[in-house]
Amino acid sequence: MIRMRPGGLSEVCRALKPRGDAIAPGNAMQWRKPPSTLALGTGEVHLWLALRGDGPSAPKESWGLTTDEIAAARRLRRPVDRELYVLAHVMLRDVLAHYLGLQPIEIALHTAAHGKPFLMDSQGADLRFNLSHSKDAVLCGLTRGCEIGVDIEAMAHNDDLLNIATHFFAADEIAALAARCGDDRTTLFYRLWTRKEAYLKAHGKGLSHPLNSFSVLPNLQALPDPVIRDLDSRSEGTWFCYGLPAPRGYAAATVLAQAVSALNCWRWAPQSADAL
Ligand SMILES: CC(C)(COP(=O)(O)OP(=O)(O)OC[C@H]1O[C@@H](n2cnc3c(N)ncnc32)[C@H](O)[C@@H]1OP(=O)(O)O)[C@@H](O)C(=O)NCCC(=O)NCCS
Repeated sequence: MIRMRPGGLSEVCRALKPRGDAIAPGNAMQWRKPPSTLALGTGEVHLWLALRGDGPSAPKESWGLTTDEIAAARRLRRPVDRELYVLAHVMLRDVLAHYLGLQPIEIALHTAAHGKPFLMDSQGADLRFNLSHSKDAVLCGLTRGCEIGVDIEAMAHNDDLLNIATHFFAADEIAALAARCGDDRTTLFYRLWTRKEAYLKAHGKGLSHPLNSFSVLPNLQALPDPVIRDLDSRSEGTWFCYGLPAPRGYAAATVLAQAVSALNCWRWAPQSADAL
C-alpha cells in the first residue's frame, strides 16, 4: 500500500519503480538499425533506444563522460542504477556527438531551472533533446528547434494504481482506469503516466506542474489528435503527444512543441564500438 501525503508524488514515483516483477524486455523489433549517415530535418524526431548490455555499464572518462557524470554515477548506491545511468549518459553523448560532429567529451550540457538539460545554441545549432531511463531501458529523443520530452517506464503490477491515479490524474483518466482491472488497468496506467511525464519533461517544469490540470486520455483514444489541452493558467503554447513502440513490458511516449512529420525509432549501438 502506498500511503498518500501532501506533496507525496515523489514517494509514489519511488514506490512505482519496478523491483523485478516487471516483464523482461523482449521485443524491440520496431526499433531499426540506423543508416550510417543520419540527417535530422526540421519537423522530424529521432528517437534512440538502448537496452542494458548494449553499451558500457561502469563509469570511465574514456567513454566521454565528464568527471561530474562519473561522480553522479558513483553516488548511486545500487549497481543496477549505476549501470543504467552510465549506459544512458554514454548513449546520450554518443548520439549528440553524431549529430554535432563533435567528440562526446566536447559536448557541454547545461541545466535549466527545473533540471532539464540542454545544449547552448553556439554548440547545439538548435538541437533539442531529452533523456529517460527505467529498469533496463534508455530512451533519448532529438529534434531541431522544437522542445521535446520523452519518457519510458517499465510496467510493474501494483494494486494501488487506481488509488495513485485518484490523487494525481485528471477526472477522465481516473474514470477510464476505474473501468478496467488487472493487466488492462496496469497497461493503461503506464500509457497515461508516460504521456503525462513526457509532457512535464517537454516544457521542463517537472513535477512542479499539476498532473491533474491536463488529460492525455484523448491522445490515446482519438488518434491522430495529438494536442494536449492543459487547464493550468501557467501553461503556454500547444503541445503534441505521441505514443511510441516500446520493448515488451514497457510504455513510452514523447511530447513536442510542434506537430511532427516523421518519428524515426533507432536502436542504439555505440558509434565507436571498438573503443568501448
Ligand atoms: C524529469 C522528472 C519529471 C522525471 O524524472 P524520472 O521519471 O525520475 O526520470 P527519467 O528517467 O524519465 O528522466 C530523467 C532524465 O530527465 C532529464 N531531466 C531532469 N530534469 C528534467 C526536467 N525538469 N525536464 C526535462 N527533463 C529533465 C535528465 O536528463 C534526467 O536524466 P539524468 O538524471 O540521468 O541526468 C523529474 O524532474 C522528477 O521530478 N523526478 C521525480 C519523480 C519521479 O521519480 N518520477 C518517476 C516516475 S515512475
